Amino acid sequence: MNFKELQTEQKLRGGYYTPDDLAGFLVRWIARNNPESVLEPSCGDGMFFDQIASNLADPAVTGFEIDGKEASKAFKRAKASGLTRLNVQNDDFLGWAIDALEDKKLRFDAVLGNPPFIRYQYLPPIFQVRAERIFKDLDCKFTKHTNAWVPFILASFALLRPGGRLAMVVPAEIIHITHARSLRAYLGANSRRLVVVDPEELWFSGTLQGAVLLLAEKRHGPRDRAEGLGIHPVRGREFMKADPETVFSAPQAINGKTVQGKWTRALLEPHTRTLLDGLGEEKSVRRFDDVAEVDVGIVTGANKFFLVEDDTVQRFGLEKWAHPMFGRSEHCPGVIYDEAQHRANAAKGNPTNFVWFQHTSVEESPTGKAYIQQGEQEQLHTRYKCRIRKPWYAVPSVYATEVGMLKRSHNAPRLILNRLHAYTTDTAYRVRVKEGTANQLVFSFVNALTALSAELEGRHYGCGVLELVPSEIERLLIPMPTKIKASLGSLDKAIRSLSMDMVLERQSRIILGAIGLPVSEQDELMNSWKKLRDRRHRVSSGAA
Ligand SMILES: C[S@@+](CC[C@H](N)C(=O)[O-])C[C@H]1O[C@@H](n2cnc3c(N)ncnc32)[C@H](O)[C@@H]1O
Repeated sequence: MNFKELQTEQKLRGGYYTPDDLAGFLVRWIARNNPESVLEPSCGDGMFFDQIASNLADPAVTGFEIDGKEASKAFKRAKASGLTRLNVQNDDFLGWAIDALEDKKLRFDAVLGNPPFIRYQYLPPIFQVRAERIFKDLDCKFTKHTNAWVPFILASFALLRPGGRLAMVVPAEIIHITHARSLRAYLGANSRRLVVVDPEELWFSGTLQGAVLLLAEKRHGPRDRAEGLGIHPVRGREFMKADPETVFSAPQAINGKTVQGKWTRALLEPHTRTLLDGLGEEKSVRRFDDVAEVDVGIVTGANKFFLVEDDTVQRFGLEKWAHPMFGRSEHCPGVIYDEAQHRANAAKGNPTNFVWFQHTSVEESPTGKAYIQQGEQEQLHTRYKCRIRKPWYAVPSVYATEVGMLKRSHNAPRLILNRLHAYTTDTAYRVRVKEGTANQLVFSFVNALTALSAELEGRHYGCGVLELVPSEIERLLIPMPTKIKASLGSLDKAIRSLSMDMVLERQSRIILGAIGLPVSEQDELMNSWKKLRDRRHRVSSGAA
C-alpha cells in the first residue's frame, strides 16, 4: 500500500491521539520547571490541554492543528478545562516554525505532543518544502526518506529555551531508523539529558508504529554537562504512577558513539556495552569488511519474467538460457545451497531458473524470441530497470559468488555457502571472501556476538523483520578463531531442525569458546541478542 490515494484521511494527517494517562505522565514531567509557556505543535482534539490545565498553573499555551474541526474542538476543550492564555491556530506548524525560529526572543519553557507520522512523499508539496527548510535552518542533513515527525521534533526542540523540556510520544523507530540520524545527532548535541521510555507492549492499536516516550532537557550551552542518552524499558502502565522525575533519572545515560549513531546500543546493559567494545578490539574478532566484501544481488527488473519454474522453461523451450537461482529464505533453509536443495525447490514448483539472455543472438531462436515477445506484450520493456538497458532483456552484472546472504531475517542473519554457484536475486547479497575460506566464514558467522551486532547495526520496519544493508553488514563483528573445524554439514542440519536460539547457543560455545570468551559472557551476549530480537518482534502492528 504505497499509493497516496489509498491511504485513509486519518493516516494522511497522522491523526492518532494520545491516551489520557500517557499525556498526564508527560505533562507531570515538564511540570517540574513550572513552565510559563508551553507549545503543542500538533494538538489534535486537545488531549494535552486537559492535562496541562490539571497539572500546571495556567501557562500561556500555543497550539497548532492542521484540521479545522479538530483545532476548534481543541480550543473549546482548552477553554472548558480552565486555560485562559490560549493561542490555538488552525495552521501548519512547520510553516509557522520557520519564522518563529528566526525570532530568537520567542522560545518556550516546554513542548508537549505527539507529532504526526506522515511519510515525506505523502506531504503536500508546500509542506515538503517547509520540512526541508527546517533541516537546513538547523544545519541538519536532509533526506527525502524523512517523515513529518522528524522536522516536527527538530523544530519543537529548537524552539525550547535553554533548560526547557520536550516531552513527546514518538515513533519507536526514532531509535534506529536511518533517516532520523540527523535528528538523533541534533538532540544528542543539544540535550543535557535524553531519556527514551521504551514499552514492552504496543500502546496504540491500529496505528502505523510502535511508540516510545521521548524526554529531552535542553542544554544551557556548550559548557553545560551533557549526560547523553538513556533508555528505560517499561512493562505495562504501572510506571506512570511513579514520579516522572524518577523515571527520567532511572537509566544510566551513555554518550559518545551511542548518541551520534543509532540509539540501539543504549538498549543494552552498561556491562554488555563494555564487553562489546572490548571484543571489538580483540584480534580474533573482525569487522565483516575485513574478511569479506558484500555486493547486491542481480537486479532483473521483472523477477516474474526472469525467474521462473521448470514448467515455464519447458513450455517455452528456454533450457539453453536457464541457470539456477535462489533468493528467498524458504528456498535455502540451511547454510548450504547445493544440487539437492535446488532439486527440492524445483520439485515444489518454486521459481528456481534464472532466464539469462546474454546476447541478442537469442532473437534468432524462435523459442527465445517468442518468450521475449510475451514479455513485451506485458509491457515489461517499459519498466524503469528494463528500459534503461539495451536490449531490455539483457540483465547486467550477472555473476555468482561462493557465499550468499539473504537481506532479511526473522531471527538472526546467516550466510549461505553457494556450492552450486547459483545466481541470486536482489533479495540476497553476493559475498566474496577476502580472508580465510568460505566454509570458515559461513560457519563463524552463526554465533551470539554476530547476531547481537546485527541487531545493533540493522534496521526493522513495521513487520519486525531484520534487514541489513551492505554498509551495515560491513560493520558486523565476526569472531574468526583459527583453530576450529568448521563442520558446515552439521550446522546446516542444526539450522534446519532446531530453533535459532539453540543453534546460536551451540555455535557460541564452539566459536566464542575458541576465542577464549567465558561461558558467562557468551550467555550475556546470547541474552542481549534475545532481548533485542524480542523487542524487534513486538514492535509490529498492521503497519503500512
Ligand atoms: C498523532 S496526532 C496527535 C494529536 C495530539 N497531539 C494528541 O497527542 O492526541 C497528530 C496531529 O497532527 C496534526 N497535523 C498533521 N499535520 C500537521 C501540520 N502540518 N501542522 C499541524 N498539525 C498537523 C494531525 O491532524 C493530527 O491531529
